Amino acid sequence: MSKVYVFDHPLIQHKLTYIRDKKTGTKEFRELVDEVATLMAFEITRDMPIEEIEIETPVTIAKTKVLSGKKIAIVPILRAGIGMVDGVLKLIPAAKVGHIGLYRDPETLKPVEYYAKLPADVEERDFIIVDPMLATGGSAVEAINSLKKRGAKSIKFMCLIAAPEGVKVIQEEHPDVDIYIAALDEKLDDHGYIVPGLGDAGDRLFGTK
Ligand code: PRP
Ligand code: URA
Repeated sequence: MSKVYVFDHPLIQHKLTYIRDKKTGTKEFRELVDEVATLMAFEITRDMPIEEIEIETPVTIAKTKVLSGKKIAIVPILRAGIGMVDGVLKLIPAAKVGHIGLYRDPETLKPVEYYAKLPADVEERDFIIVDPMLATGGSAVEAINSLKKRGAKSIKFMCLIAAPEGVKVIQEEHPDVDIYIAALDEKLDDHGYIVPGLGDAGDRLFGTK
């Protein structure tokens, strides 16, 4: 079963409070999402494998450590996921970035893929899907389906705020995908919004309605 990691670092929790606050405007919202994504990237990379190599310092020969694992790819779910990409790239600047675009069919309410572009070496990479919100879980499950269909073997899902409903759906549909969140909220409302949540992440990031 997928593990769920809640990043309760004080800096993440502090910034998340202002991300949630409806008085926070677009510019500040965008900056805060970027900062929290960086802090979350620090936590999510904690278990990256390292290996020992030998180097020569100006003083002596030393055995020191470098990253040894697979290469990373970050995949934002369009559109709101874009707001988290630069923050993660600050810590993993060599990562490749794929994109998955989903819209919700107005009749079925199910997410439909309208765009997908991934790095060529899908099977060789560790993927981190980023999206600020995990609500019903429909978008996340569809994005994971899309990566797996194209050959991805290692996937993590990272978001700011999750509803219990969304976490459950990923755990049922994709038990191999661990979930990394800044906060686990109470529930969904009748319109599929997370309560207390932060409202519509895409609209708040891009200043649209
Ligand atoms: C938001 C959010 C997630 C999705 C979560 O995107 O960024 O992708 O909703 O909801 P779910 O878990 O119920 O699928 P939205 O569909 O509003 O699109 P946008 O990013 O273009 O605003
Ligand atoms: N998508 C959002 O942007 N916000 C929510 O609360 C739920 C889905």
